[in-house]
Amino acid sequence: DVVPVILCGGSGTRLWPRSRASKPKPFLRLVGDRTLFEEAVARCPASGGFAPPVVVTGAQHLAHVEAQLGGEGRIIVEPSARNTAAAIALAAFSLAEDDIMLVCPSDHYIGRPEVFAKVAQEAAALAREGWLVSFGIAATAPETGFGYLKRGEPIEAADGSRGFRTAQFIEKPDLARAESFLANGGYAWNGGIFAFRVRDFIAELEAHRPQIARVVRQAVDEGLADGRRFHPDAALFATVESDSVDYAVMEKTTRAAMVPAAMEWSDIGNWPALHDALDRDSNGNTTRASGAVELVDCSNVFVDSDGPRVSVIGLKDVVVVIDGDDVMITSIAGAQKVGKLLGATSQ
Ligand code: GDD
Ligand code: MG
Repeated sequence: DVVPVILCGGSGTRLWPRSRASKPKPFLRLVGDRTLFEEAVARCPASGGFAPPVVVTGAQHLAHVEAQLGGEGRIIVEPSARNTAAAIALAAFSLAEDDIMLVCPSDHYIGRPEVFAKVAQEAAALAREGWLVSFGIAATAPETGFGYLKRGEPIEAADGSRGFRTAQFIEKPDLARAESFLANGGYAWNGGIFAFRVRDFIAELEAHRPQIARVVRQAVDEGLADGRRFHPDAALFATVESDSVDYAVMEKTTRAAMVPAAMEWSDIGNWPALHDALDRDSNGNTTRASGAVELVDCSNVFVDSDGPRVSVIGLKDVVVVIDGDDVMITSIAGAQKVGKLLGATSQ
């Protein structure tokens, strides 16, 4: 079976004031009527050959997950945040050795879910043959917040699914290296979506980060089921080393592979990225507001207001977001710094 493993952790501060510790990015309706978490679940339906999902989330997000998950699926509740290597290991130790995990972050936008579905099947076919597979996204900028996949030789699964060896996996390079990867052309971004056979993931984790493998296994053995929820042992889990799957496993394994995925992917890492994912009017403006918005002589202006009426005159390349008592106004160029604002850091 292909089991979707949906990760919800962290709290995006770069989409403040809409995203906050109490309602982080996965649980917001940013594009369309569904939240990013609801979309991540809906992308893996039973009709597409997927088993019910396993959601791995922090205790502080449990209420959101329970409200948005729907009828099927299990929830592993992390007693503390130990990053993605441990989060994926929790799912791995709760599944059968031969299951294929499709690890899906819940903070991404995917514009072409039909492409996702096709690539997921290809990635699963390669994972069944022992590859640790990443979804590769065409790199369009020297982003330093992503992992990079160096495309190696072509590989093919028994069913004809194709991909490439990942000759090198470089997590979050500095700007100079990211620029050289982009100029080289032979590198894709890591989309953060992975297909692993459970026993291969565990074997690689045991080889490269044995402490994480050993202690997470114990925390699962000592855990408690409560209906559809599972609670790993909190005292043990708190001692697990914190590391991301990218550094802990993907940079180190020799069995890394990638499947190119042209699925209109965006990590919606900041307000201009959300603006890009939404439809614009003829002046390049976008408004998402429950109250009225008036734009006069504006271009490339994005307004998101949860109530107050907003009027803007004669501005270009500006983002205005109002959420409750918080108002945030930035130039497009300044939007990278939103996460450092006082309101965002105090949430
Ligand atoms: N359950 C759980 N527990 N989920 C977590 C935890 C945790 O401790 N930490 C992070 N997550 C979730 C996040 O909510 C997100 O959905 C996903 O795991 C990835 O974590 P991020 O913290 O957002 O990682 P990143 O953006 O810095 O980097 C990853 O994603 C990039 C693509 O967006 C890497 O895989 C990069 O290589 C990749 O390019
Ligand atoms: Mg991320």
